[in-house]
Amino acid sequence: MTTYTVGYLVGSLSRESINRTLSKALIRLAPPSLTFTEIGIGNLPLYNRDLDASYPPAALELKAAIEAADAVLFITPEYNRSLPGALKNALDWASRPWGANSLTHKPSGVIGASPGALGTALAQQSLRGVLAFCNAPQMTAPEAYIHFLPDVFLEDGTVANESTEEFLRTYMQEFADFVERVHTILPQRRGQG
Ligand SMILES: Cc1cc2nc3c(=O)[nH]c(=O)nc-3n(C[C@H](O)[C@H](O)[C@H](O)COP(=O)(O)O)c2cc1C
Repeated sequence: MTTYTVGYLVGSLSRESINRTLSKALIRLAPPSLTFTEIGIGNLPLYNRDLDASYPPAALELKAAIEAADAVLFITPEYNRSLPGALKNALDWASRPWGANSLTHKPSGVIGASPGALGTALAQQSLRGVLAFCNAPQMTAPEAYIHFLPDVFLEDGTVANESTEEFLRTYMQEFADFVERVHTILPQRRGQG
């Protein structure tokens, strides 16, 4: 069995993030071919292109972590019908300096949870636009717009609803298959701008 490392980014900085809870559920339900490392975004300064020639350590760490991972998974809230600024900021750092885009050819997945019925659909659409420009291949199906219910998603990552659990298990299996496909057909190159 070939195994793949997944760097996951939680788009929320909140200590009580429901998206962090969702990330625990996804890790629990993922097939054994995937291993997970969180890529933190909370210590990054705001992106400033004046620093392109001397990237701050937190941004260098972010780029190194993305480049070291076989795939990236974004688990994000929706803020004002878009992706949160903290996550966009991380993507801006990762994409630069010009010619050294860490996201190039990196297989990616997008998922998110909201207490609202739309389940982060618009945030995911915004994020997909950014990933497309950054040349990160995306799993486009299945889509996963998670309406977060506290009695379904327990703090330790247990999912107390069979059909939701099955849906998320399928999502992670599909993601594993997608990552394998990308690695089979697309050579991983770094710094392609
Ligand atoms: C600034 C801000 C904007 C928000 N905008 C939306 C939104 O557009 N759509 C939505 O479903 N929820 C929105 N919410 C509610 C979030 O979905 C909710 O706070 C959720 O718990 C955030 O995810 P987290 O717990 O992982 O931080 C917003 C919350 C904040 C703080």
